[in-house]
Amino acid sequence: MNILVLGSGGREHALSQKLVESQQCDQLFVAPGNAGTSQIAKNLSLDISNFEEVATTIKEKNISMLVVGPEQPLVDGITDYFDKKEGFEHLMVIGPSQRGAELEGSKERAKVFMKAHDIPTAKYESFTAETIDEGFAFLEQLNAPYVLKADGLAAGKGVLILNDLEEAKQELKAMLTEHKFGEASNTVVIEEFLDGIELSVFVLTDGKNYLTLPNAKDYKRIGEGDTGLNTGGMGAVSPVPFADQAFMDKVDNSIIKPTIDGLSKENIDYKGFVFIGLMKVGENPFVVEYNVRMGDPETEVVMPRIQSDLVELLTLTAQQKLNEATLEITADAAATVMVVSGGYPESYEKGKQIMGLQNVDSSKTTVFHAGTKLVEEKILSSGGRVIAFTSLDKDYKTAIKTSYEGIKKICFEDMYFRTDIGFDLEK
Ligand code: AMP
Ligand code: GLY
Repeated sequence: MNILVLGSGGREHALSQKLVESQQCDQLFVAPGNAGTSQIAKNLSLDISNFEEVATTIKEKNISMLVVGPEQPLVDGITDYFDKKEGFEHLMVIGPSQRGAELEGSKERAKVFMKAHDIPTAKYESFTAETIDEGFAFLEQLNAPYVLKADGLAAGKGVLILNDLEEAKQELKAMLTEHKFGEASNTVVIEEFLDGIELSVFVLTDGKNYLTLPNAKDYKRIGEGDTGLNTGGMGAVSPVPFADQAFMDKVDNSIIKPTIDGLSKENIDYKGFVFIGLMKVGENPFVVEYNVRMGDPETEVVMPRIQSDLVELLTLTAQQKLNEATLEITADAAATVMVVSGGYPESYEKGKQIMGLQNVDSSKTTVFHAGTKLVEEKILSSGGRVIAFTSLDKDYKTAIKTSYEGIKKICFEDMYFRTDIGFDLEK
């Protein structure tokens, strides 16, 4: 079959790599893609927020499966669009309906869902400009640190964690009355701070059945030792050493099962990935957030550990027959290190030529492109996060070391990466 992947990051390159490896994949298209995806698939320059344009391409290229990488088209209803559109009855769309995507599109909606289905999460209340005084009063009842979340999508920037009560009140005011995060902060969720260690769990579901994919830990901060500004993710490791079987059984029973049952009870059409951000507090898991897509850079460690045929798994997902699937995962650990543009996540320059990629030993390290483009045979940086170096080995420490060996082979002006991915995993 012909397959179209939407998106342009490392996540999409890693998904594409797994899709092209399948015997069932004839032609793979990626829109808009990057220099990495152009080496394994055909990039299409498409405006993926324009569903009509996507539909025309799907007809033209005889596409049978559409894999939606990022959240925005899902929150905007791309799955419902193709569900209702005449002539697209046989198109398999991997990604939830708009109602399903609300789990990421609205923090408040996610909290209501968790409460309704008894899924452990931090205690919360939500507020609007009309109820700001109640918001101040709620903050006064909590202990520091204070967690304020813009309800809507805010490009990963909508969560503030503050140590000072007065500052928390000021920020609440800025979010609700001064549109600090635009419309996304018209509603603000205030929640209890969870003191623990984070990890991500990934699930593939058809809305009734599910498979738990490899878990991962992401390193979100720009600086060594988890300091400085939040980024999209500077590296990741899978599996997570501190998520042992007993803990994962708790995750399955208290979080994954009730989440999938909740989707089914609420009649939410959900055929795609669920990314559950968790906090391990003591020995117990709490949900920090739902995302309705795979993570980036987590996909760059999750996909290489999956040995089953991804096209087969996604076909069974679309057919709601995931109960018939088997999932094989390698016992090897995977690590990825993200190389970024100097200055990221604040302002940075693009268009830097990336040298030395041909010297990376591809039998040891897979290079996933995140923000690159091909211009006249040259590979140039085109985003903040530029390239991820993924390695697999019997243990995560060796895998990390191999990824750093790979990074030594390349260079571009002002490149930066964290040298301590995995630093907190020592027992
Ligand atoms: P979110 O977008 O909801 O995942 O929040 C972004 C980041 O803020 C998370 O990855 C956590 O590191 C942190 N965070 C969010 N909610 C809490 C909470 N209730 N307690 C502690 N940290 C939190
Ligand atoms: N790495 C975090 C995310 O994809 O949202």
